[in-house]
Formats: sequence, C-alpha cells, structure tokens
Amino acid sequence: MNLSHVFKEIKAYELENRFEGIPDKLYEAKNYLISIGGKRARPAAFIASAIAFGGDLKYVLPAAWCFELFHNFTLSHDDIMDEAPLRRGMPSLHKKYDMPTAILAGDNMMLFVYKELFNYSPNHALELSQLITQTGIEICEGQFMDMGFEESDQITEEEYIEMIKLKTSVLLGACFKGGAILANANAEEQNQVYELGINLGLGFQIKDDLLDAFSENPKVGKVQGGDIIAGKKTILWTRAMELSSETQKAELSKIYSDQSADSQEKVSRVLQIFKDLKIEQSVAETMNTYYDKALEQYRQLPTSKKEVLGEFISYITQREY
Ligand code: IPE
Ligand code: IPE
Ligand code: MG
Ligand code: MG
Ligand code: MG
Repeated sequence: MNLSHVFKEIKAYELENRFEGIPDKLYEAKNYLISIGGKRARPAAFIASAIAFGGDLKYVLPAAWCFELFHNFTLSHDDIMDEAPLRRGMPSLHKKYDMPTAILAGDNMMLFVYKELFNYSPNHALELSQLITQTGIEICEGQFMDMGFEESDQITEEEYIEMIKLKTSVLLGACFKGGAILANANAEEQNQVYELGINLGLGFQIKDDLLDAFSENPKVGKVQGGDIIAGKKTILWTRAMELSSETQKAELSKIYSDQSADSQEKVSRVLQIFKDLKIEQSVAETMNTYYDKALEQYRQLPTSKKEVLGEFISYITQREY
C-alpha cells in the first residue's frame, strides 16, 4: 500500500458515487464542484491515519469521502463569502450556476454527509458525527473571524494563527482523528494524530496564503492576488505590517482597504511592498516551523504502519498548488 494507491481508490470511489436526485440541477451542481478537481487531501489524510492504526481501507473509504464532501460544502460557501470567481481553475459554483443553487448545493452536500455517516455501526457513527459537528462549528467561527479581519487593520499574527486553526486546521485534524476512530485507536492516539493534523493544517493554510499571492501556477486555480483584492489580512499582511517602515505601513493600510482601487494596480503595488520586505521567505520559514512540528509528532507516533502517513505528510509539505 502506498499513497498513490490511496488516491486511486479515492478516485474510483468518487466515480462510483456521483450524486443523483431531483431537482436535477441541484444534484448537477454538486457533481460540478466535485468533478472540476481538487487534491483530495482530506480523504487521503483520513485513510493514511486509519492505515497507521491498522484500519481497513475499504471500511474507511465512505467516511473518508464524507470528509471530502464536507470540505466541498465549505468551499461552496467560502467562494460566495470571498466573492471568488474561480475555483479549481473553473468558474466557482455560484458563478457557474447562481447564489441560491450554490448555497443549497452546499447545504445539501453537508447534510448528505450526516446521512452517510449514520450507515456506520452505532458507536462509529456517533463518534464521527460528533467529530464533524464540532469541526463544523469551529470552521464557522474561523470563517467569521476571517471575514471580520477584512474590516480591521489591527490584526496580530497570533489572531491570524487562531483564525486559520479554526477555518482550516481543525478539518485536517478531524480527518486524522476520524481515521483513527474507525481503526479503533485509543483516545490518546486519536489526540496525537489530531494535534499532528492541526500543525500540518497551519502550515497548509500558510502555504495557501503564499500561493494566493505569489504563485503563477495555473494549477492553483484561483485569481492570483485574490486575497489582496479582497483585503484579506493573512500572515503576509501581518508580517508586512511588522517589518515595514512607518511610510510603508501607512501606504499598505491605505491600498489594502481601498475598495475602489483598480485590482491589478492594487495587487502589483502590494506585491512590490511584499517583495521589498522579503515577506515570501520570512513567511515560508514560519510555515516550515509548523511542518517541522507535524513531522516531529509523526516521528513520535507509536504505530508500526506509518509509511503512507509519512508519504502524505511529504506530499503536503512539498505541494506547489
Ligand atoms: C482550499 O483547500 C481551502 C483551504 C482550506 C486552504 P484545498 O487546497 O485542499 O483545495 P482542493 O480541495 O485541493 O481544491
Ligand atoms: C478557506 O480559506 C477556508 C474554508 C473553506 C473553510 P480560503 O478562503 O483561503 O480558501 P481558498 O483560498 O478560497 O481556497
Ligand atoms: Mg476563499
Ligand atoms: Mg475564505
Ligand atoms: Mg486562500
């Protein structure tokens, strides 16, 4: 068993489990978001963790897929909140269809997840639904903080880290924990992989923020500088505010909050300031400290079948889109 085998199994499961239902267009919209791409990091995390604790791939696959669906539900609503026109290199769901369709397709997908999880044995079903419920509550909190940051320029790096932990890391942590639950790992082991997922997820979201600003790779599939256009206070911004001179600070604050500025000019000016301050390198170092913590936690795991999990961690830490 290796990671590429895991990705193949996820793909096969995806193709066998397209949505069907009436009204057709609602189900077509759900299939659209799933079929336009995605790395499938979350189900891979779920399965890699389950394998590490001696779990069975076929048994855990439906639940792992549920965590991918839950992620897609959050993306459908995130793109509305972020007014993002692109997702996975294609029109985002509300652009391809319309706002009501995107909201309802997302809601329907999230509720479908619960329906599916109830097919597991009562104990596993209860634990997984408790896990995903708590995770969903925290994602809402993180998303709320993320949106609020757009309106303030007093955000600290500590607040940013708390925000990304809630909006992103908890789901990755939950995938690792869910895999451990289905493999009947004990509570301590479940918590160990959850914490590993939190650190890996913090690095993952910092990378997402770096790619958003600096990557020209079309595989990222989003508008380059989308966070700058939206006035998102990411770690790039908090770091720049920390390292800049008073004049740069004033300029950055002004451009960042200017809603009427030409998007391209806004992005290129902010990127120039980021370049002058070497923000990309500085933030990448911070990202690596979280990846290093995750790796150390991986090394400490007292399980014998860790290879796929190790491969998964390398895959995440090396990703370029
Ligand atoms: C995007 O997640 C949203 C974040 C939490 C950063 P991914 O980068 O995993 O998106 P897909 O699923 O591969 O498209
Ligand atoms: C996404 O954060 C977090 C959730 C979807 C919950 P972003 O807004 O940075 O994700 P992208 O960049 O749109 O994928
Ligand atoms: Mg977004
Ligand atoms: Mg967002
Ligand atoms: Mg992003």
